[in-house]
Amino acid sequence: MLALRGSPDSPDLPGFPAGVYYRGEVTIAVCPGSFDPLTLGHLDIVRRARSLFDEVILGVARNSSKSALLSAEQRVEIARAALAVSPGLEDVRVEIVPGLLVDFCRDAGAAAVVKGLRGGADFDAELPMALMNRHLVGVETVFVPGDPALAHVASSLVKDVARFGGPVDDLVPAGVGDLVRQALADRAARADGSAQAPPTTEGTGR
Ligand code: PNS
Repeated sequence: MLALRGSPDSPDLPGFPAGVYYRGEVTIAVCPGSFDPLTLGHLDIVRRARSLFDEVILGVARNSSKSALLSAEQRVEIARAALAVSPGLEDVRVEIVPGLLVDFCRDAGAAAVVKGLRGGADFDAELPMALMNRHLVGVETVFVPGDPALAHVASSLVKDVARFGGPVDDLVPAGVGDLVRQALADRAARADGSAQAPPTTEGTGR
């Protein structure tokens, strides 16, 4: 087992701060992300996490440096539907991370956070978050190399390709491409509507 386990007699290991990784016999991992939308790359990482841990929770979280296309509820629904038809992943729970990831991990009794790496750029982006999360509550992050065949698959690229009419259905679970295209169309219609709306005088007193 990857996670460090303490015993009732000696819950701490010398040199290790007491962290959320000292738990019972079942090891739980959280796979967090924006999942906007979930891709086949994400499913690959969840599968690898599930092979290492007894329980895996897919945590749909908010990345404050990104503006999501899909609502959190849509992202949860997509993940649940995809996992339900993925052999071996049916028991992966999907939950919203309402605030800090470390609070969610502590409440869930998670031994670790699992993040996938497609390459060095991912590591550079992930390392500060992993160190911050460990600083905050002691939770460790396990980095798992993803399938190289999926190294080009990123939610941001899926949205960009779809925005310009390119094919994305082989990069995401079944049905997700349609939801992304619909959300992009809705967003474009909203932007168009607000661009054509007459200038408002609300609040000017005139
Ligand atoms: O898929 P992403 O956008 O790379 O995932 C990043 C995410 C959502 C996991 C990260 O932004 C996060 O943990 N958000 C929850 C809020 C939080 O804990 N922020 C501090 C991170 S050190």
